[in-house]
Amino acid sequence: MAGRRAAREECFDEPGHGHVVRTFEQYLDDLRGSPYRPDLWSVAWDGDQLAGLVLCELDGDAAEVPWVAVRPAWRRRGLALSLLDRTHHHLAAAGVTKVRLRTVAENANDTVGLYTKAGYAVTARHPRHRKPVPARA
Ligand SMILES: CC(C)(COP(=O)(O)OP(=O)(O)OC[C@H]1O[C@@H](n2cnc3c(N)ncnc32)[C@H](O)[C@@H]1OP(=O)(O)O)[C@@H](O)C(=O)NCCC(=O)NCCS
Repeated sequence: MAGRRAAREECFDEPGHGHVVRTFEQYLDDLRGSPYRPDLWSVAWDGDQLAGLVLCELDGDAAEVPWVAVRPAWRRRGLALSLLDRTHHHLAAAGVTKVRLRTVAENANDTVGLYTKAGYAVTARHPRHRKPVPARA
């Protein structure tokens, strides 16, 4: 479990994700009471090293895939595509008929291209805005 959190943080701590790093305790809190289905997750190991993961949640007969991550040393070998494919097989066996995920168009690793290759179609685009709010004196 700690390895999964660390891999996730390593992958999303890169510029452009707007990701806020979470501690292991915060990560466990996120999982408690969430619709995550660890039995449907796909995790790739290279010996004792976690190389990549795809984590999903169920919402009726649909699934959401909020986390797709491959650690830098294992990238561009088809691992993400293969983990997504495995996840889709697990989801189909669980009766899921639709899978959703969200990404950013500017992702440095062309996630739109990745997900298109995995069979996804773009159905909506949402601009995102962010602004720090100064602390009040
Ligand atoms: C995105 C990520 C999961 C891809 O993992 P990966 O195992 O390297 O991906 P794959 O080898 O399966 O690549 C499949 C396709 O995705 C696209 N792709 C992946 N990385 C790319 C890159 N750096 N540049 C351009 N295209 C890329 C390509 O179309 C690629 O097919 P190709 O190799 O035949 O050209 C990985 O880079 C990562 O963890 N990034 C940080 C976290 C992240 O952004 N996650 C997704 C959030 S929605």
